[in-house]
Amino acid sequence: MNKREVVQAILGSRIHHAPTIETTVFAPTNIALCKYWGKRDQELNLPVTSSLSISLDDKGAYTTFSVIEKEEDEIILNDAPVLLSSSFAKRLINFLNLFRNKERFKIILKSTIPIAAGLASSAAGFASIVKGLDALYDWKLSLTELSLLARLGSGSACRSLWSGFVLWNKGEREDGMDSYAELFHPHWEKLRVKILMVSESEKSLSSREAMQRTIETSKLYSKWPNKVQDDLEKIKHAILTNDFKLLGETAESNALFMHETMKNAHPPIEYSSEKTYALMQRVWDLRNQGVSIYFTQDAGPNLKLLYLDN
Ligand code: PMV
Repeated sequence: MNKREVVQAILGSRIHHAPTIETTVFAPTNIALCKYWGKRDQELNLPVTSSLSISLDDKGAYTTFSVIEKEEDEIILNDAPVLLSSSFAKRLINFLNLFRNKERFKIILKSTIPIAAGLASSAAGFASIVKGLDALYDWKLSLTELSLLARLGSGSACRSLWSGFVLWNKGEREDGMDSYAELFHPHWEKLRVKILMVSESEKSLSSREAMQRTIETSKLYSKWPNKVQDDLEKIKHAILTNDFKLLGETAESNALFMHETMKNAHPPIEYSSEKTYALMQRVWDLRNQGVSIYFTQDAGPNLKLLYLDN
């Protein structure tokens, strides 16, 4: 099955609803505590393993959609027009083409997080795009259906439709219709996630390419699915029992293992900078001094700190 067929299967005759004038939506970014790293299907963004994230409710993407009487789309990102020939615009336009007839859109995206710096901005972006389309065309899709559609834009986007802890079940089906996210647990009042910015610049290697190279060349990757299975159980248990030590230790170990699989790829993939390693050391030093603080890291040099508000 290709993306267009999946969209057809979900939307059916609704795809031809007439668009309304304008709509604005928000989707939060999400940080995986147990990571998604590796696709079993590259076209449909179907993952090798399940994953679990926490949404950052105050950080994400605001998207305003309107239909315009023009030949081409107009895209504005953080107040600046985006060249339609840029890779960012092309990826977005290809995604929009899955859903529309001949309409052209003006899309105003405001991201409260840096784009493509391993801060899951694409997750919030694509989730807000599907929410925006749903509102614009009045499809009234369920969150499950929105999650299935967001996944077609970017895998981790399927988790950006809820607040709280979100579980993406990998699913078994070839068409991916059972590969969507769901709310696992609404909140953990005292838990804090803080982005520790090392660099805001765009990542040198996309997560798509890095995942593929890891799967194809890293000897360590065969150990990843079992590692995720163990870590997922621990993290679920930690959330349900408010066991912060277990949560922090497991999330940190999961992220470090993911980066080890990349370092074992050929050629090796290294997202961390010297500053990243210095900050990790600082976290470990603090822990030795009795401060309960952990980190996780995605496909970029930045760290996300996990701690309790005390
Ligand atoms: O959804 P993508 O293609 O941006 O990949 C996300 C990969 C990680 O952020 C590293 C892990 C995750 O589960 O979010």
